[in-house]
Amino acid sequence: MGATSKIKLNKRLDLGRLPAHIAIIMDGNGRWATKRGLPRNMGHKAGCENLKKIVEFIYELGIKYATFFTFSTENWKRPQEEIDGIFNVVRDYLDEDGDEFVEKGAKIVVSGDYTKLPQDLVDAINRIIEKTKNCDKFVLNLAINYGGRDEILMGVNKAIQAGKELQNQQDFAKLLYNSDIPDPDFVIRTSGEMRVSNFMLWQMAYSEFYFTKVYWPSFTEKDLQKALIDYQQRKRRFGAV
Ligand code: IPE
Ligand code: IPE
Ligand code: MG
Repeated sequence: MGATSKIKLNKRLDLGRLPAHIAIIMDGNGRWATKRGLPRNMGHKAGCENLKKIVEFIYELGIKYATFFTFSTENWKRPQEEIDGIFNVVRDYLDEDGDEFVEKGAKIVVSGDYTKLPQDLVDAINRIIEKTKNCDKFVLNLAINYGGRDEILMGVNKAIQAGKELQNQQDFAKLLYNSDIPDPDFVIRTSGEMRVSNFMLWQMAYSEFYFTKVYWPSFTEKDLQKALIDYQQRKRRFGAV
């Protein structure tokens, strides 16, 4: 988390009605790079820089929870060189910003089976989780080696192992990653794709969605405010009238 940004706030944004939990599918790093004649990994580097910037802004707005889709269970299908590039930028982010997370009261958590990642990244994740575990001002959840179906399967297996019938949805939700975080109110996907790609399948049952054509590395604080203003126009009914 860098120095406090001096972003001009859009007057139409109501700071009293922000989502408690915002989740972002950061898509379009590769196309951002290709469009500029750069290797895809430069897109991931730029994407990670943007992650830092947007995390900082979400924190400043006072939104309590933010989840970022960083690496999916399906992303293992990519060339090894690209996978390594993604992991390296994430590791460097966690290593470099550790002290600032603590100063700001930002707790870092992970959704996904991160033990399957390369050891240097596993170590960096364990260090940051341990270092920020008592922070309570803001929660940054990185979905890494995360897949919604795998998560549900994990929950089912835990339930079977516990050997007793679940009484309700809350009982099942408790078996999922970071179940103390409320479901995302608002989900943004960049890059123009209008799909979920196995993200938070259980938790998104009543989320509001926002799609933008902007590639993730180009997604600015201004774009985020525009998305949030759109969110604030919606009427969430949760099945009621
Ligand atoms: C999102 O950008 C980052 C990850 C999936 C890790 P992409 O790498 O998917 O970028 P595009 O979709 O190919 O442009
Ligand atoms: C979703 O993006 C995963 C992340 C942003 C980490 P993808 O680029 O992997 O999604 P698809 O393949 O276009 O559905
Ligand atoms: Mg993509």
